[in-house]
Amino acid sequence: MSTKSKKILVTAALPYANGEIHLGHMVEHIQADIWVRFQKMKGHTCLFICGDDAHGTAISLRAEREGTSPEEMIQTLHQAHKTDLQDFLIEFDNYYTTHSDENKQLVYQIYEKLEKAGAIFTQEVEQAYDAIKHVFLPDRYVKGTCPKCDAPDQYGDNCEKCGAAYSPTELKHPLSTLTQTPPILKKSLHYFFDLPKYEKFLKNWIHSGTVSSPVAHKLNEWLQTGLQPWDISRDAPYFGFPIPHTENKYFYVWLDAPVGYMASTLNLTKKNHAIHFSEFWENDKTELYHFIGKDIVYFHALFWPAMLKEAGYRLPSAIFTHGFLTVDNQKMSKSRGTYINARTYLNHFSPEYLRYYYASKLTSGAEDIDLNLQDFMLKINSDLVGKVINIGSRLAALLKKHFHNQLRREPVSHPLWLTIIAEKETIEMYYTTRDYSKAARLIMNLADKINAYIDEYKPWLLAKDPASLPKVHEVCSLGLNLFKVLITYLKPILPLTAARVELFLNTPSLNWANLTDYLTHTLNDFEPLMQRIDHTRIQSMTDAAQTHDTPSDNPAAVSAIEPIKPLINYDKFDALDLRIVKIIKAEAIPEANKLLKLTVDIGSGTRQIFAGIKRAYTPEQLEGKLTVIVANLEPRQMRFGLSEGMLVLAGDGQGLWLLEPHDGAQPGMPVK
Ligand code: MSP
Ligand code: ZN
Repeated sequence: MSTKSKKILVTAALPYANGEIHLGHMVEHIQADIWVRFQKMKGHTCLFICGDDAHGTAISLRAEREGTSPEEMIQTLHQAHKTDLQDFLIEFDNYYTTHSDENKQLVYQIYEKLEKAGAIFTQEVEQAYDAIKHVFLPDRYVKGTCPKCDAPDQYGDNCEKCGAAYSPTELKHPLSTLTQTPPILKKSLHYFFDLPKYEKFLKNWIHSGTVSSPVAHKLNEWLQTGLQPWDISRDAPYFGFPIPHTENKYFYVWLDAPVGYMASTLNLTKKNHAIHFSEFWENDKTELYHFIGKDIVYFHALFWPAMLKEAGYRLPSAIFTHGFLTVDNQKMSKSRGTYINARTYLNHFSPEYLRYYYASKLTSGAEDIDLNLQDFMLKINSDLVGKVINIGSRLAALLKKHFHNQLRREPVSHPLWLTIIAEKETIEMYYTTRDYSKAARLIMNLADKINAYIDEYKPWLLAKDPASLPKVHEVCSLGLNLFKVLITYLKPILPLTAARVELFLNTPSLNWANLTDYLTHTLNDFEPLMQRIDHTRIQSMTDAAQTHDTPSDNPAAVSAIEPIKPLINYDKFDALDLRIVKIIKAEAIPEANKLLKLTVDIGSGTRQIFAGIKRAYTPEQLEGKLTVIVANLEPRQMRFGLSEGMLVLAGDGQGLWLLEPHDGAQPGMPVK
């Protein structure tokens, strides 16, 4: 492996600005961040670029529903995304947005080149149109049966079952997700990018090692069935960039989205003059890698290279594709309480736990990875707390007590040192090839060996005999040096812990070059690094996940009108005891981002109720209001106390609305 310092640009796919960051997104950001941090530890220059994907109908429709403008909404979400990602220790060099001057300028410039090259043509198309809402339906707002594999309930842009990309009009049995009615077809003039023109180029390109072989295989299937021209325009109303020299036509969000990678780089060059745009986008001597999910391969491995090629830019060095996150082996689902957004997780656990858990499961392939919270707890407790941190905490305590934190001044010569540092190249290879699960397993094996060495001498017992103190000093000194190597190996995954260990070890930043340096100086006091996870914390996170009141990034899921449930008889209805209550007190729970604690007067006394309405109402807005609760629902033990009833609220997955009785209703009145 060459030791020459490289210049690398890494991107993570731009999250849509119409929903929150969830644990599915985090697979990609964590995977890419570990890779970037590893490159930096190796001494390479590595820029990490991302931003929000801010255009498209989904954005304007959500803004409309929330009574705000798209501009305002994307700004709010941009801030939220940025903080969420930052709090997961994702270290971007720039997190920008596609709704920017830089992006507009680059999109126009690229489009002009495509036009000049004769790669753009127009054609009338019939498109799905919701005649009730008066909008052309974006792909994700039409659901139906996949035209390629017949999988039911698929979105209009691509199939989650077989991965095929198509247009919504090709779906069988389509329904508008806005109104649950079959869309009508309406004609209008569209602009197309002539993708078939690049067939030969793409055929070569995908077999040049830029994608993994299973992905190349899939792409090849698409090439075999024949590439289709790509519809890159959308009619007004649309939130995006207008197409030059047209009226009421806009660029389809996926045309300007990948250009957002370039725009984010360009924006960075304005803040940091040492970085040059041309070095990364117009020069093949640097490297360019895109981390993406398997659902967006078509856009990145076909449209994007063809656009770059024609516009005279460099091509990606490789595209790294990962699989999807499942929770308990199923797609994340709100109704099952397995949809966990980034903030809910962060309110309960350290970001490093998830970073390690994902790392322990990630491979270079695009298999799905499963989050099982029981397994998550066991892994964190046994690997991180039990094996790794335990080494540092046990030995640090002894070193402080008996040796004033001073390590032995002479290195301890022991074969274990050589065994542990001998794995440097292998671990390096695993990081490079994104086989993090293998890296994690190997590092845990090494931790086992270090623990076995410590257990062999039991220094905490030896220390009882003053004559054995030199041996204790030896075990502590070697053990803590081995701990340093372990933490260096884990640093791309656990950057925060590594920073704390650097403080404790009183060393400069740990990296690949100083990995084998042996320490003989005085250390600082050891501060606790990690805590075990217990069941109640897992439970309180799942509770919080179930009381989500904000939407997923799946526009269709939240905007659909829910179908009416099956009929019930009068007895079932009568079993439900609904009562009028008066909210006498409402308090925010600082640790919960959704819950408010309410005290309500139910006529015969008061009740305590936890309700997930913090984002919809402030406590002041609620106090004094009359509303309706289910009075005979089994009480539920939550992390913050017992909830003795449930508010009845109107909601569509987007907003929440309290129900208020007309004047004259009194607390305790039954609602029939
Ligand atoms: N906006 C586009 C990407 C444009 S890139 C020029 C998009 N956004 S997204 O928010 O839907 O997804 C962003 C990334 O997160 C994608 O790579 C996607 O594959 C990934 N994931 C979204 N949900 C995921 C899971 N449940 N599991 C793993 N990755 C997932 O696509
Ligand atoms: Zn399919």
